[in-house]
Amino acid sequence: MKKKLISMLLTGVMAASLLAGCGGTAAPAAPAAPAAEAPAEEAPAEEAEEKVEEVAEDVEEAAEEVKEEAADAGSGELISVGFAQVGHESDWRTASTKSCQDVFSKENGYDLSFVDCDNDEAAQKEAVRSFIEQGVDYIIIDPIIATGWDTVLTECEDAGIPVIVIDRTIDDSDKYVSWVGSDFLTEGKAAGEWLKAYVDAQGIKEVNALIIQGTIGSSAQIGRTDGFQEIADREGWTVLDKQTGDFTEAGGQEVMESYCKSYAGKFNVVICENDNEAFGAMTAMDNAGVKYGPGNDVILISYDACTAGLKEVQAGKITADFECNPLAAPTVEGVIKTLESGGTPEAQILVPDNWYALKDAIVDFSVDGNAQKMIEVTDEVIEAQY
Ligand code: AHR
Repeated sequence: MKKKLISMLLTGVMAASLLAGCGGTAAPAAPAAPAAEAPAEEAPAEEAEEKVEEVAEDVEEAAEEVKEEAADAGSGELISVGFAQVGHESDWRTASTKSCQDVFSKENGYDLSFVDCDNDEAAQKEAVRSFIEQGVDYIIIDPIIATGWDTVLTECEDAGIPVIVIDRTIDDSDKYVSWVGSDFLTEGKAAGEWLKAYVDAQGIKEVNALIIQGTIGSSAQIGRTDGFQEIADREGWTVLDKQTGDFTEAGGQEVMESYCKSYAGKFNVVICENDNEAFGAMTAMDNAGVKYGPGNDVILISYDACTAGLKEVQAGKITADFECNPLAAPTVEGVIKTLESGGTPEAQILVPDNWYALKDAIVDFSVDGNAQKMIEVTDEVIEAQY
């Protein structure tokens, strides 16, 4: 089509200049011609003008066609990506979804099929199968729970569609090219090691902890629970109870309401496995008259460190917040680009996390012998968070 446009332009320009040339040079060549003959001499110029107009119209039409063809070719080049997202249970999840939608946009060259699986494992497998049927180029899965994946991942493999796992891990299949996410076990250990250093600094002798877990069987829950429990066992702390709040505010509130009744006056640490559960637990403790936060009866620990969580740290409600970075999508795009260029991406890519507290709750601690750095929550820090 480009060739057609160029040849039309050339023809047009040549025709126009030839005709214009006839009119332009003929007139001075006949100075003595009678007045009656003048209109006949102007005819070639008019003809040239008409021809130019005609050609201009054709050129415009052809240009339009070229534009349309380019747009068609462009959409054909989009990389199609299916993303089976866990759901919409938390602020963290909202940030993760937005990050994926921003990165895998049409403007960036992607055609994204997004499915919010509403924390339903069967629906998530169905979403993956629908991506196979669509014949997408890549499938991204944030697995609700860590097991039960081998069959559907084999189906992806048979269909020749590379799978990238994001955030939570899959424990019973290796039929995916890369995993991109946070180290949940380290998050749990960091919370435990921080608590050890903090209670020592505060002169608190006993730890009686209540845990509000995330979705049971998700790697985020398993890692955080196990990591914290390891330190609790080592230190001889009492974990009074563990129940799931399913990573939701309503779940956190419900579990904490029941804890406040069952363990009234018996606990001094509450660990919520995400910020939204912490918000629910705060409501329940407020209603039960339990005082929490730095300098109060109960130390409240949370994970995620989303903007809303950090605001509660700043407000003196959450004592320490252990980040789980939701912005993995740019790294996932890197994996796709590597695959597109025929390369082999890394099998595991860690997204770095930070630990947050107010100044007085910042203490030195290590995880597995590695010194950790805490970040003081300020307006600027909150402003910069997702
Ligand atoms: O898998 C990541 C966890 O899931 C986040 O901590 C939580 O907020 C989310 O729902």
